[in-house]
Parts: sequence; C-alpha cells; structure tokens
Amino acid sequence: MWYKDAIFYELNVRAFADGNGDGHGDFIGLSQKVDYLAELGVDCVWLMPFYPSPLRDDGYDISDYRNVAPLYGTLEDFKHALDALHARGIRVIIDFVINHTSDQHPWFVESRASKDNPKRDWYVWSPTDFRYKEARVIFVDSLSSNWTYDTTTEAYYWHRFYSEQPDLNFDNPEVRQEMLDTMRFWLDMGIDGFRVDAVPYLFEREGTNCENLRETHEYLKEMRTLVKVEYPDCILLAEANQWPEDLIPYLEDEFDMAFHFPMMPRLFMGVRQGSNREIINILEKTPPIPPHTQWCLFLRNHDELTLEMVTHEQREWMWQEYAPDPKMKLNLGIRRRLAPLLENDPRRILLLHAILFALPGSPILYYGDEIGMGDNIDLFDRNGVRTPMQWDDSLNAGFSTAETTYLPVIDDDGFSYRKVNVATQQGNPDSLFHALKHQIAVRKQAPIFGRGQFRVLDAGNEAIFAFERRLEDTAPVVVLANLSDHAQTAMLREVNDYQGSQPKDILTDTPYHPINETPYTVALQPYGCLWLRLEQKGS
Ligand code: GLC
Repeated sequence: MWYKDAIFYELNVRAFADGNGDGHGDFIGLSQKVDYLAELGVDCVWLMPFYPSPLRDDGYDISDYRNVAPLYGTLEDFKHALDALHARGIRVIIDFVINHTSDQHPWFVESRASKDNPKRDWYVWSPTDFRYKEARVIFVDSLSSNWTYDTTTEAYYWHRFYSEQPDLNFDNPEVRQEMLDTMRFWLDMGIDGFRVDAVPYLFEREGTNCENLRETHEYLKEMRTLVKVEYPDCILLAEANQWPEDLIPYLEDEFDMAFHFPMMPRLFMGVRQGSNREIINILEKTPPIPPHTQWCLFLRNHDELTLEMVTHEQREWMWQEYAPDPKMKLNLGIRRRLAPLLENDPRRILLLHAILFALPGSPILYYGDEIGMGDNIDLFDRNGVRTPMQWDDSLNAGFSTAETTYLPVIDDDGFSYRKVNVATQQGNPDSLFHALKHQIAVRKQAPIFGRGQFRVLDAGNEAIFAFERRLEDTAPVVVLANLSDHAQTAMLREVNDYQGSQPKDILTDTPYHPINETPYTVALQPYGCLWLRLEQKGS
C-alpha cells in the first residue's frame, strides 16, 4: 500500500518543461526534470491528460485514448519519461477521462453522422432536451444546459462539461469494454495507476441528479477488479467532488484513494478566520474509510478552487475574502493559485502544508506551488493557474527557448519569474522551496501521518487546530497549528496518557518541556505549527 505514505505531485506535461523548443512542454522536457522532482522528495506524479486533443478543455477532451499528443511527443517519449521517473523511484499515475471524449474523437464524428451509424449509441442522444432535468450544470459560467442540438441528425446530445465534450454512453457494453481495454493499454506500458476524471457522472437515469448512480458504482467495481487482478500494485484515485459520506461507496471496492474536496476550502476558511471551527466540522462529517484506502488531500490543483462543497453563505464569504476582483471568480470557485491566495505569506503557506501533511491522507502538491508561483487572472478559463513552470530567471523562465510559449510566463510585479523560480530558491536555504522540501522529508520519516489513528484535541483555544496521531509501536504525534496571526497558547487537557513524556517538534528538532501536568501549555507563533513527537523518557 505504497500510496498510503506517498507524497503526490500534480503536473501538466504541457506546462512543465519544453524539451524541443516549440513553446509547449513535452515528455522530453519532463525527462530532464526528474532530478528536480526527486530532490523535492515526491513519490508519485499525476500527469494531467497528454493525449491527442483539440485542447478545448486543456486535454480533458480526448480525441485518441491510446496515443500522446504530438505537441508533447510520442509514445516512446512517454515511455522514456516513465522509465526516467521510475529510475528515480517516482511512480506515475495518469489522468483517465472516461466520462466524455472530444467532439473531434472519431467515435463522435461517426456517432453524429447518422442515426444508423454503428457508433450512434456510443453517446447519449435524445430527440428532446427535456430529459435528466435534475442534473446540475457544472460549468455554470459558460453553459445553461447539458444538452446541445446537433443539426446533422436533428437530435440533442448529452454533455456534463463543455458541449465539445460529449458524454460516452456507458449503457453500451462496447463503450464499457473499450475503456477497460484502454486501461490495460496504459497499465501494460508500466504506469502505476490512474486518476479517474469525473467519476460520478458515468450513467444517466431519469428522475435522479445523474450522480453516484448504482450503475456507475457497478462499472467502477469492474474497473477495480481489472486493476487488482491484473496489476495489483497499481492504484485508482477518484475525482469525485462530493460530500465525504457520498464518497464512501467509491472507496468500498472501487478506488484506493479519493480526493477530499470539502476539506480544502475549509483550510482556507480556517486560516482566514483564525478559527478551527470549520475544519473540525468537516472532519466530524468524514466517516471512517476502509483500511486499504486513503484520502488524497490538496490545497490547490489545476481547476478553480472549487466551492461546490460549502454552504451558500460560506461560498459568498470565500468569494468576498479570496476573490475581491470579479475576474478571480469562475463557476462556483476561485481561479487563483496558492501563493496569491495567501498574500504570498510564507508563514501561511507553510502552515497549510504542515496541516495537510499531518492530516490522515496522502498529500498532493500542484506544480509551481512549491516555489510560490503566481497566477494570471487575465487568461481564459483556468489557464491563469496553468502557466509555464518557472525554472530560472532567463528567457521564458527557463521553461522554453521558443519565442512564444503556449501561455505567457508570469512576469508581474509581485510574482515575476525573475524572482520566483526554482534556481533562485534552490540557492537560498531560507526559501519556500527548501522549507517545503524539509517538511516533505520529515513527513517521509513519519509513517504515522499516512497510517496512524486520528483524534481532534481540544487546545482550549479556537485559534488552534490541535490533533493527535497514533500508530502502534511508534511515539504519538500531537500537531498544534495556530490559524491566527497572533501568538497563541495551547492548553491541552487530553494528554493524561502521555504523562512523563518528552515532546519534541520534529519539524525543527526542538525539545519542549515534559508533560508533567495538565493542562499542558505550549506557546505558538502567529501561524506557527508544531509536530510534537511524544517520546517516552528513556526511549
Ligand atoms: C475534471 C477536471 C477538469 C475538467 C473536467 C472535465 O473536473 O479536473 O479540469 O475540465 O473534469 O473533464
């Protein structure tokens, strides 16, 4: 169960490094950067879609499932990058977009050509747009319906995302089989698993919201069987933006991991409100998950910071606090990167990582956030958080030698690549890069975070998020996170079991006074976080 201890890293091949100088990142470029990933200490990368695609949705609109987009190289280049990552001990999972294809996919081109085409039934067609009315529209800023009228055959087709992304019809056994075979194709190449895109939406049924349906779960179980029987070390990670209780079925006999979507905005609420309330609240609503499974925890990713899993009032509040410029809003979310969201305050960036790394689950970083990259809200859709990785202060941030890059490099006052780049930060021991690299290294020495029991502790102070991790045969760890910008004191009462133990902050290797009486009091710096390992005396 390697995924229980792994640090994940999400990257877009297009955005990472350009090996052939055409302005787009590619697999040759990625192969040249594996040492960097190894140095940072990541265990597994998630590659966003790199398949042939018209790029209407940055590759989440696939036109050929068994190839690499020419812009990013060839299948051989892919294999070479995979081998290079494996050689450095880094596993690779790839994005698998099964709910829909591109409208340019030959299957859809055929399907829309005539009503009696053999591929007609590979997609969801209807004579009216009155069906499945209870299904929500996801891209609310650009769409008003999940149906689009196609003049060729005078019928509507179904799509949960852009109209250029028609949904496959999973009621068709050929579709189901094709997707399983496609999985084998990539698993045979040696990948370590899939991040499966948009899994709640595979089937449609009248009178439902068309999410999390029984039929969808049945198919996902088939996927799991294939992987576990034929490729037992490989994993499936679910992208299902749902409440924790609705995610449980996905973790029972379907996925090894699922993103914990609702946790993410609450971490941002916590650090803005200086209060642990919302974080504890969502943890209380998170049921236990099967022992072989793991949450995947994140702060940011390639999409907008989604606010689907919050109340209406919380969403308005998040927008008010974190999206002061209307351009920062997108759909039900905020299209900004981590560092700008946190006003480029290293204390808050490190605090949120220290919490993320210590909560039950495996953390995932989004490329560029480890150096505090900025964003560009003038770019279309979610492109503002997908700009080229900033390697150094040379032309195009060292990303590419081309005259123009697929998106402009960030070069504004606060976040210019001239300042914010890997080389500069590698050379500065006080940089964000080094601090995060250190957190990662400490976490990797502490399997208790990936595997241990979890319990929230009362620190007698709402500004402090306190919890305990326990794992047989290892010293327990108490995490104290000060969510406020003032110094705070934690007063722990629930530490009777630990009388006589000697706490040490493993992040800084600093000993704290022994636990001799309750409450045990500890002072915390503004936005400070301690990972206190409670050593028994004499051990
Ligand atoms: C997922 C992806 C998102 C994409 C959508 C449609 O939510 O994260 O980027 O647009 O699926 O494939």
